[in-house]
Amino acid sequence: MSTATATAVINLDIEGPKISRHLYGHFAEHLGRCVYGGFWVGEDSPIPHVGGIRLDVVEALRALNIPNLRWPGGCFADEYHWKDGIGPREQRPRMVNTHWGNVEENNHFGTHEFMALCELLGAEPYISGNVGSGTVQEMSEWVEYLTRDGDSPMVRLRKANGRHEPWRVKYWGIGNETWGCGGNMRAEYSADLARQYATYCRDHGDNKLYRIASGANGDDYKWTETLMQQISCFGCEATPRTFFQGISVHHYTMAGPRDAKGSATDFDTDDYYRTMLSARKIDRILAGHSTVMDIYDPGRSVGLVLDEWGTWWDVEPDTNPGFLFQQNTLRDALVASTHFDIFHRHAARLYMANIAQTVNVLQAMVLTDGDTLVLTPTYHVFEMNKGHQDAASLDVHLRTLNTRRSVGNEELDTLSASASVKDGTVLVSLTNLDAQKPAEVTLDLRGGTVGEPTARLLTADRLQVHNNPHMPEAVAPRPFNGVKATGQGLVLTIPPHSFVTVEAPLARTS
Ligand code: AHR
Repeated sequence: MSTATATAVINLDIEGPKISRHLYGHFAEHLGRCVYGGFWVGEDSPIPHVGGIRLDVVEALRALNIPNLRWPGGCFADEYHWKDGIGPREQRPRMVNTHWGNVEENNHFGTHEFMALCELLGAEPYISGNVGSGTVQEMSEWVEYLTRDGDSPMVRLRKANGRHEPWRVKYWGIGNETWGCGGNMRAEYSADLARQYATYCRDHGDNKLYRIASGANGDDYKWTETLMQQISCFGCEATPRTFFQGISVHHYTMAGPRDAKGSATDFDTDDYYRTMLSARKIDRILAGHSTVMDIYDPGRSVGLVLDEWGTWWDVEPDTNPGFLFQQNTLRDALVASTHFDIFHRHAARLYMANIAQTVNVLQAMVLTDGDTLVLTPTYHVFEMNKGHQDAASLDVHLRTLNTRRSVGNEELDTLSASASVKDGTVLVSLTNLDAQKPAEVTLDLRGGTVGEPTARLLTADRLQVHNNPHMPEAVAPRPFNGVKATGQGLVLTIPPHSFVTVEAPLARTS
């Protein structure tokens, strides 16, 4: 078996833009078993919980330093009426979740429960408001209910429901996928609505909102351009500002077309490489939107927010097709690790990203079944990479000899890397996507020196390997002792289909 070889040149003394911790954000929708059975088991459950919120899930997720959690959707957000989810639970109205499985939604998990969950996770809330079937007043009052101090109708309502102090909620989504499930709008109409809703989502006291307008589907750059043209408040010259502070975009990774996405676990090497091409597409998508945004906002004050990303496979056999429950293999982990390398490279514009979704739905971190919980391979990538959160990015210049392969009509580079430095520690993430070949990589560190490195490896015998309650650590990080210091730099051989992190103290920069 041949070995691929590559050199990664990293200038330790040239720090790039900060990698926003919010690139490691999450998403929890009222969909399938994400909220009900995942985060929420209710106060009468025998499963250990705090006020109805599952403790094992919270404990597992706390290790990821989740920076923010988006809720309640997704498509569900545009049929959610928040006042149905406050007050005594047994009196809350019920509804049908028409987007996801046509099941009854009892509204037991509502605003107070979500805020309690965020507090337990140590995550900032990101609330996605209803534009598709709600009203401006409804969203405006939700902001007031959550964030206003003193006395007002919504403040009195909040106090009557047991919460005296206002919460801090910075992140607000103005609709979701308004081009699709959120109302099937045209970009022009959606942009006008975003301006209108953003106007009435007020900053109460010092709770300054970060309003995120519903943005493009994948590579629809025209949509972003339309929003950017409408972003400035021309009547506000005295205090120039934009109506929204962020613009969203969604991109999912699939091995085939939407109606033939393929199995999460039963796939071959061709499917695998096609998946990786689809994942890599996010680079072009982020670059395209950033370019458009640069024209209208050269100072980069408006954030690009990829608030839905991840793999989307066929649902597991014999599960509700509307619940989007899928397994998670080593392939999913490598999709995540290559996404993060790309995110880090777009740190100047990309402000937030939210994987879909945290528990039991699509590319989840944890899968629960009754009282069992399993950490997925993707979970481990988030954990191994968490040192990049709020670190200064370091450019990685890859000189590769034989790491490219043809996939259909396209080329796929099978080596992916990114690096950052924070608090005197350098963190390098490396993914070898090749299904057969190891890759020998020399980390040519310039402009400084590092101390003794430590490394971890995430891999398995086969790409299809996943964790389950009987084999919870089939894919789990192991210490990796293969990093050698040589005259050329740090040299390591990365096994096929593997993810490695190398961490080293920064001894000095020149
Ligand atoms: O994450 C699942 C769904 O995908 C979301 O509800 C929607 O926004 C997207 O189409």
